[in-house]
Amino acid sequence: MSGRVEGKVAFITGAARGQGRSHAVRLAEEGADIIAVDLFEDISTVPYPLATKDDMAETIRQVEALGRRILFTKGDVRSLPELQAAVDQGVAEFGKLDIVIAQAGILTMGLDTPQAFMDVVQVNLVGVINAVSAAMPYLQPGASVILTGSTAALLPGTVDAAGAGGLGYAHAKRHVGRLGHDLARVYAGQQIRVNVVHPTNVDTGMMDNEFMYNAFRPDVENPNREDMIPALVTKSPMGVPWLPARDVSEAVLYFASDESRWVTGQQLKLDGGQLGPISNAGVPA
Ligand SMILES: NC(=O)c1ccc[n+]([C@@H]2O[C@H](COP(=O)([O-])OP(=O)(O)OC[C@H]3O[C@@H](n4cnc5c(N)ncnc54)[C@H](O)[C@@H]3O)[C@@H](O)[C@H]2O)c1
Repeated sequence: MSGRVEGKVAFITGAARGQGRSHAVRLAEEGADIIAVDLFEDISTVPYPLATKDDMAETIRQVEALGRRILFTKGDVRSLPELQAAVDQGVAEFGKLDIVIAQAGILTMGLDTPQAFMDVVQVNLVGVINAVSAAMPYLQPGASVILTGSTAALLPGTVDAAGAGGLGYAHAKRHVGRLGHDLARVYAGQQIRVNVVHPTNVDTGMMDNEFMYNAFRPDVENPNREDMIPALVTKSPMGVPWLPARDVSEAVLYFASDESRWVTGQQLKLDGGQLGPISNAGVPA
């Protein structure tokens, strides 16, 4: 099937690389135009580099190669005015907004400072609220909002035990799940759907970096990507170290398309069996 989101316009935060780029490209393959933002700066409590303007150029190249349009501006999800400006400009250009993918995020795991906690909550939770707030005035019946949580954040005793930064990540993501649940209920009457995807580890710059190699393989001197993979496999009941970002995009595409037109309030765990029947850590099932 092609054209599953033909003629729709999607707003995506954190689209310069990783899952955000993958979602932009997957939706463009199915006929959507894209309004995108990313930060293009590092954040001092994040122990790996964030996306660059070169990353943005690659996302633009891939979307345009599919014959779709993309308006990509610099925007910090911690700033509502910056997101409003990006969405206003995008709607002025493309005429409407149908899909919101609020997924820009950082991981401050391992840093045990109040600032690490605050930064990750500001980006991963307040940033999601800002993205939805900027988009809502434009959304019409049939629109779809998709938020990105995390299964790791739902697993007690894992990331939440990794310093104040790790706790902030878990805290923010659990609230993203709760936010999706509450927004779905509030906006159902306007025929606007809100769903949450919770991926397990994903093969992106958030995981594929020196900080994470060392976190997962403290027993190896100067560990690399290949060293980390067996450690990730042992944590997955299905033996998958991490998902290709494209696998997450397939779920996002389903929620973005009219195939899911009566589906709202879902917490979809792309978990490789990681959560199983255990606690959802306060996020509605
Ligand atoms: N990679 C994983 O293992 C994994 C697992 C579960 C959930 N997630 C979540 O998936 C989402 C996407 O992450 P990813 O895996 O693609 O990682 P990534 O680091 O490759 O991408 C995150 C993107 O967000 C951008 N960003 C960060 N702070 C921003 C800000 N303040 N304003 C605007 N943009 C900002 C980054 O520059 C980057 O382009 C995040 O919410 C993350 O928490 C990731």
